[in-house]
Amino acid sequence: MRLDQFVSQATGLSRSQAQRLIKAGAITLHDQVLKNPSQHIEPHLPIQYEHTLLTLPQPLYLMLNKPQGVVSATSDAHQPTVLDLIQHPHKHSLHVVGRLDKDTTGLLLLTSDGDWSHRIAAPRKQIGKTYLVTLADALTHSALKQLEQGIHLEGEKRPTSPAQVALVSDLQLRLTIYEGMYHQVKRMIAAVGSKVVALHREQIGELSLDKDLALGEWRELSYEERALF
Ligand code: URA
Repeated sequence: MRLDQFVSQATGLSRSQAQRLIKAGAITLHDQVLKNPSQHIEPHLPIQYEHTLLTLPQPLYLMLNKPQGVVSATSDAHQPTVLDLIQHPHKHSLHVVGRLDKDTTGLLLLTSDGDWSHRIAAPRKQIGKTYLVTLADALTHSALKQLEQGIHLEGEKRPTSPAQVALVSDLQLRLTIYEGMYHQVKRMIAAVGSKVVALHREQIGELSLDKDLALGEWRELSYEERALF
């Protein structure tokens, strides 16, 4: 891995702070100063910061109940990000697994384990994502059938996989989809003649959002939850 990535993950500093440390000559290997942040290193080497051995922490796995108004990114020049909501010494090692739009709420996963996030996001895995969808206008019976059968959204190579649809009320439905196309739910609902007014992700695969987490709150996943993927 890159030296700056290693230093960032081992210390909990951001990537740019780690780069500054490296350029300042504070990182050594066998008493030789390592000054190139992009140098590739083996994480098991005895790399030191001011004579303290650096080691990578255990991977992190978090669920966040994402509120509206924050972007699903770990850094952004202009807008608050989901990472701003997380207080953890190693939060800079996290990445987002399956983004939500800025105005979407609910279950968002963050991890530092790339293999784990790949298992969730890989298209061939077809992991279901369940959303509570609030609509501007009620859908007809045939619109619901179209959602269930799959819809060819403009600009996409393939139609959406058959979705699972359960009406909660005239203006609310629970929708499970199996891809992560850009604005997929909003585009599917628009294609069948309505509009999404609120969108909340409740579940990814077998993993449900913890009902005890208020909007903006997060917690680490249990071993059993991690092992679902
Ligand atoms: N589909 C959308 O349209 N938006 C989201 O945030 C998630 C799925």
